[in-house]
Amino acid sequence: MNDMARVERVVDTGQAKITASDVQVHYGDTHAIKDVNVNIGDKTVTAFIGPSGCGKSTFLRCLNRMNDTIDVCRVKGNILLDGEDIYDKRVDPVQLRAKVGMVFQKPNPFPKSIYDNVAYGPRIHGLAKNKAELDEIVEKSLRRGAIWNEVKDRLDAPGTGLSGGQQQRLCIARAVATEPEVLLMDEPCSALDPIATAQVEELIDELRQRYSVVIVTHSMQQAARVSQKTAFFHLGNLVEFGETGQIFTNPQDPRTESYITGRIG
Ligand SMILES: Nc1ncnc2c1ncn2[C@@H]1O[C@H](COP(=O)(O)OP(=O)(O)OP(=O)(O)O)[C@@H](O)[C@H]1O
Ligand SMILES: [Mg+2]
Repeated sequence: MNDMARVERVVDTGQAKITASDVQVHYGDTHAIKDVNVNIGDKTVTAFIGPSGCGKSTFLRCLNRMNDTIDVCRVKGNILLDGEDIYDKRVDPVQLRAKVGMVFQKPNPFPKSIYDNVAYGPRIHGLAKNKAELDEIVEKSLRRGAIWNEVKDRLDAPGTGLSGGQQQRLCIARAVATEPEVLLMDEPCSALDPIATAQVEELIDELRQRYSVVIVTHSMQQAARVSQKTAFFHLGNLVEFGETGQIFTNPQDPRTESYITGRIG
């Protein structure tokens, strides 16, 4: 198949929140992302899957300019959020990351109280006029993070004292506190037990009502459970993108089929 045909196949024309075109990423001489074209839908969970080292985290980090923080990393191509170029020099990456929030593989609460973890973003972005408003944002965010009931009586306790699963839900609460429009999650459940994983998955499904969610996962079961769209990456290429059900039951590319049936990875 020639390149044009491939591009047509991976670009979905549904309502796009993010449109990436011709994205290339290099780390020094390593060509980590090769000409990726994809639309990320609004109010949709999109899963990124593929073997280790194929570029999932690299591409995810392009979507909120997290790669800016890596010295050797060079990003080329176009990424539009609601039609606006996020790499335009007038865009402030800190503001962008409030809109396009991120949750990492390892829960990383700040060494601060539970309250201050969640209040951090709203404070730096001036989202609350007074203490009462900030209290309200903190409560609402912890509720959205599905952890309010577990922490409401100890908001002054350190975030780092929570269990791993609770810390991850706290980090999700922290990410939603700035009212992001997109939430990027890089293997958010890999440090969690099955119960905490189920809680986070349920939460992802709720978050989809309000946000565009992108999740990197090594678990095909998880991708199948939580996502509506799936992107399969292989050696820096976006090989296949489509409805999750179709990718898992009727993959069009032999590389996707090999991966989902466990022959590569
Ligand atoms: N900070 C970095 N500096 C140099 N090279 C990097 C860096 N981060 C990633 N790479 C390289 O870019 C390529 C893609 O890596 P990336 O971390 O995006 O893969 P991944 O699909 O997320 O893998 P995994 O499933 O193991 O997390 C790899 O060849 C990797 O070695
Ligand atoms: Mg990764």
